[in-house]
This record gives sequence, C-alpha cells and structure tokens, in this order.
Amino acid sequence: MAEAKTATLTIDGKTYELPILSPTSGPDVIDIRKLYAQAGVFTYDPGFTSTAACDSTITFIDGEEGILTHRGYPIDQLANDSHYLEVCYLLLYGHLPGPRELEDFERIITRHTMLNEQIHFFFRGFRRDSHPMATMVGVVGAISAFYHDSADVNDPAQREVAAHRLIAKMPTIAAMAYKYSLGQPFVYPRNELSYAANFLHMCFSVPAEPYHVNPVLARAMDRIFTLHADHEQNASTSTVRLASSSGANPFACIAAGIACLWGPAHGGANQACLEMLREIGTVERIPEFIARAKDKNDPFRLMGFGHRVYKNFDPRAKVLKESADEVLEVLGIHENETLKVAKELERIALEDEYFIEKKLYPNVDFYSGIILEAMGFPTSMFTPIFAVARTVGWISQWKEQLADPQLKIGRPRQLYLGAEERDYVGIERR
Ligand code: SDX
Repeated sequence: MAEAKTATLTIDGKTYELPILSPTSGPDVIDIRKLYAQAGVFTYDPGFTSTAACDSTITFIDGEEGILTHRGYPIDQLANDSHYLEVCYLLLYGHLPGPRELEDFERIITRHTMLNEQIHFFFRGFRRDSHPMATMVGVVGAISAFYHDSADVNDPAQREVAAHRLIAKMPTIAAMAYKYSLGQPFVYPRNELSYAANFLHMCFSVPAEPYHVNPVLARAMDRIFTLHADHEQNASTSTVRLASSSGANPFACIAAGIACLWGPAHGGANQACLEMLREIGTVERIPEFIARAKDKNDPFRLMGFGHRVYKNFDPRAKVLKESADEVLEVLGIHENETLKVAKELERIALEDEYFIEKKLYPNVDFYSGIILEAMGFPTSMFTPIFAVARTVGWISQWKEQLADPQLKIGRPRQLYLGAEERDYVGIERR
C-alpha cells in the first residue's frame, strides 16, 4: 500500500501536515478541509484557478493536452460515433447503454417533451423582443410550480424524473422562446422525430406548410448538442452545484445555471463571437481588431478565443470546425464572408506571438456560431442552444452532488479588506 502523501505547511513556526489526494487522472489535490480549524487561516483563490471545489466521476479535461472525456470516452469519438441522447445516458448513469436501455431512455425523454398548456401564458408576459435567455431563465425557474412530484431533492426517484423532464423540455422551451420572439405560433414536439430533428422542427416549421428536417442539419445539430453537453466545473455548472447545495429544487438550480451561462465570458461568447466577426466584416480589418485585443487599455477581447483550462486547443473547436465546412457545403454556402474572416482570424491568431504567449486558441464558441447562423438561427438563439445542450451536464453534476453523503452547503469565506469596527455617527454630527 503506497504511503499516503502529505503537504507540509509552516506558519509562524508551526507545521501542519495536509493530506494529498490523488485522482484517476489530472493533478493531485491538497485536502485543506481542516486547515482553518487547525491553523486559523483561509486559502485565497477568487477565480478558483487552483481550486478543486468537489470530486467527480463525470468529465475529465486536460487543458495542456486538449483532452476532454465523458466517463472516460474521448469527446471526438462521442461526437463522431455516438449521438446526443446516448451521451445524455452516459453522463447520467456512467456507462454506455445497451440497446434496450437506450430504447427505454429515448422513449422516456420523448414522452416528457410537452409542457403544461398553462406554461404558454408565462411567455405572454414577455416583450416580443426579449432576449430568449431572459425567457428561458424565467420559464425554467417558474415550471417548478408545475412539477411538485419531482421537486423533492432528497428522493432519488423524484431526482430521476426531474432530470428526464429537464432534458426533455429544454428544447421545447427554447423553441417556444424563439417562436415567441418571431410572433409565430408555438410548434408542438413530434414524437417520431429524433431529439435534434425535433428541435429544428419546433424552431423552423410553421402550420401553413409541411417542414422536412434536413438530415445533415439534424446531424450537425445533434453534434453541437453533444459537444456542449458537459464540461467539468465551469462557471454555470459550479453555479448549479452551489444552488443545489442549499437544497433548492432542480428547476431553480437549472434556472441559476442558465443565468450564469448567459454571460459573454461564458456561454454568451458564441453570440458575442459571431457579432464580433460581423463587426470585423472583412479579412482586411482583422489586424485592427487584433491590435485592440492586445491593447491593455482596451477592454476588447477576441470572443471565441481563450479558455481557463485549454492552453493548446479546445478539442470541441476542432470537431466544430469540420462541421462548419460540412454544413456550409450542404447548404451551398460557399462565399461565407463570416467564415472567411473566422478562418483568417484563427490563422493569424495562431501565428501571433501575443496569442501564442497567452495561449489563446479558438474555443468551443468560435465555430458554433457560424454553423448555427448557417442553419438559420439568429445570434440571440446561440446561447439558448448552448443551455439546451448543457442541461444534461448540469443535471448530471446536480445528481452526483446530491448523492454524496458528505454534501454540505457551499459557503466560501473571504479576505476582508474593509473598515475596522467603528461606532455609528448620527446624521447631525456628520
Ligand atoms: C466557455 O470553463 C469552461 O469550461 C467554459 C466553457 C464550457 O464549456 O463550459 O468551455 C465554455 O465559456 C468558453 C469560453 C468562452 N469565452 C470567450 O470566448 C470570451 C473570450 N475569452 C476570455 O474572456 C477569456 O479567455 C476566458 C474568460 C475564456 C478565460 O479567462 P481566464 O482564464 O480568466 O484568463 P484571463 O482573463 O486571466 O486572461 C489571461 C490573459 C490576460 O492577459 P494578462 O492580464 O495576463 O496580460 O490573456 C488575455 C487576458 O487579457 N486574454 C485575452 C483573451 N482571453 C484572455 N486577450 C484577448 N482576447 C481574449 N479572448
């Protein structure tokens, strides 16, 4: 039995031995759970750049090697050989399903895709030009009012139903948000369609004529869902875990995740990236924007570039880059100026000393917007689509955390730099 490793910390001449925990893959961690009780000090890591907030068996990322696995399976193999609902099963249950398991799971999800008709009235309260993410945060948080039979987080059976309902209903809610913004009627899900085809159908069909889903677009949509399904302890997943640690119901926790994903530094980057590519407009203007990205006094950043973890390449961006070419080919879009700007921007950035030194590479958001725009989605729908895909990751991590018998409410401390204690001064003396 290998001797347990420890880290030695000396403070004011006193020495503390801290256990070191070793992972299946990735860096060791120093267990500081007893540090404050023993040494009376906190650790300080505002952006969690060196902090493991939990243990997990779901997803592993090696940022230096550009590795992303779900339950041990590499993302490029899943994106090329599997499909989204099978990846959902894998994330939720930890193994690839057998044929019968997959058939049962797909039938369960398919039969949870409709929403209570009352929920349609929630949408009526929004302006037509509301951002669909505002609608999704509102509607997902509100549907907890309809599903009391799957809100008890202490009941594993109810947790299971809540997971199925959320995975099944998110595409319906996102499509309804889109239709509402267009002033078009909501389109009901169709059980004979696949998950991705059903989403395209709910977004793009109208009652006035038949709509046939292009199988290549359905495949690309499914692949986009798979590539965005889960990503370890990113900001929105950490938000869901923190919300869940208080015992909040699953719909409230997922609404919190949607809210966090909305930010342009996170899931909102796909919308911001495409808007940036459009603002650049032509290949000739790229140097101007690269100079701005380097300018310390300019808050501008190249959206779709950089990542907290990936420091050589984002494996998802590589798959999406192939998909972008495939989708544009099928759609006969050969002269796509935005794609030309994107590819030239990527080429220049990958050769530029600043970006090489800062390790800034295209991330998952760089190419997804190009594909989604080619498929007919407005930029405002990019992040809702990311939220649909990431729901399975959020809910898998939510389930994993709730099954942990050592679960405690998340309650970070701080480095206080405010005023020392002082007496109140009445207004007459100020
Ligand atoms: C996602 O965490 C996840 O896993 C997220 C995600 C997921 O699947 O859940 O992968 C999805 O959110 C992808 C990231 C999408 N965001 C963007 O594309 C927005 C643009 N990128 C940046 O905002 C930034 O790169 C972050 C937020 C993604 C990462 O920021 P970090 O790790 O906190 O790095 P940093 O901000 O400290 O930057 C390090 C340096 C800085 O320069 P210095 O202060 O050291 O001189 O790199 C520079 C930054 O100025 N920098 C950039 C840049 N990103 C970082 N400079 C120009 N353009 C950029 N995009």
